[in-house]
Amino acid sequence: MNQSVNFLGRTLSGPIITAPCPAAWSANDLIELMQSGAGAVTTKSVTKDHRKGNAEPREYYWNESSINAVGLANDGIAAHVEYIKTAVAAVPNVPVIISIAGFGTEEYVDCVVAASQSPEIFAIELNLSCPNTEHNIIADDPKLVGAVLSAVCKHNQKPLGIKVNPTNSQQLADAIVAVADSHGVDFITCTNTVGGAYLAQADGAPVLAANGGFGGLAGASISAISIGTLVRYKSAIERQKSDIEIISVGGVTTGAEAQKRLHLGASVVGIATPIMIHGAVVVGQINAEMNVKG
Ligand SMILES: Cc1cc2nc3c(=O)[nH]c(=O)nc-3n(C[C@H](O)[C@H](O)[C@H](O)COP(=O)(O)O)c2cc1C
Repeated sequence: MNQSVNFLGRTLSGPIITAPCPAAWSANDLIELMQSGAGAVTTKSVTKDHRKGNAEPREYYWNESSINAVGLANDGIAAHVEYIKTAVAAVPNVPVIISIAGFGTEEYVDCVVAASQSPEIFAIELNLSCPNTEHNIIADDPKLVGAVLSAVCKHNQKPLGIKVNPTNSQQLADAIVAVADSHGVDFITCTNTVGGAYLAQADGAPVLAANGGFGGLAGASISAISIGTLVRYKSAIERQKSDIEIISVGGVTTGAEAQKRLHLGASVVGIATPIMIHGAVVVGQINAEMNVKG
């Protein structure tokens, strides 16, 4: 069966896409992911300038789960736009979504301007929900989300999405969808990692070096909260009669789990932790479980 899907007006070869993570960094990383059978590939989050990120160890993996406090390490928007250009020249038929992060409205605008001018980039995902820096999480406050979108939308020429946090608040999901819809946002990615996780060693010392030991939990451990957030957002979108599409991310490790997200209204399904643990080959495995041709 060829389970191609439509997403943002484009036909993708399958519903599994790759979510932002350090395995989507260089041009070669992107090429490997684009050749894995993914319907689309998302870059790791990119800021205006190079960032070293947090001290190591800043990632830890166990039992199909992960905790990380990478702290938005990246090479800066200009370098990543070049990586995407190289990757798309090598593999032209797999769309690339760039994930953009910032520490203020101006930085989001600068990055969107740069990304918007690049014909190789298919869509832009604003990471408004990184839990691993000292800054406010924009996605927790609909007013802040509105402020970023107002500034960014004037400069954007691409399909635009926002990446949000896990939530058990229907009011928050309703408010975020309302502000996103009023700014013409095309997709919502739910979710980012579950912040506030602290993986302790036997003596209580943190596994992660940075951020006081706190990090974002992901992988199999967050499947149920990710589904809860998907259901909240889908409900908000339907009740508001919006046509915003959803990328469901978080805890998808099998074809059956991915299929559930499609049944619950996601347009496509993202994976990050499985790629970090098993490599790009895991996309083909999940596709095979869903009978998607690679
Ligand atoms: C090591 C690591 C780094 C990540 N870096 C980013 C990032 O730069 N930007 C972002 O939006 N999400 C980032 N994420 C979050 C993932 O894109 C995803 O939302 C989350 O991990 C849940 O999906 P999963 O359960 O498949 O890992 C990262 C996740 C991991 C494991």
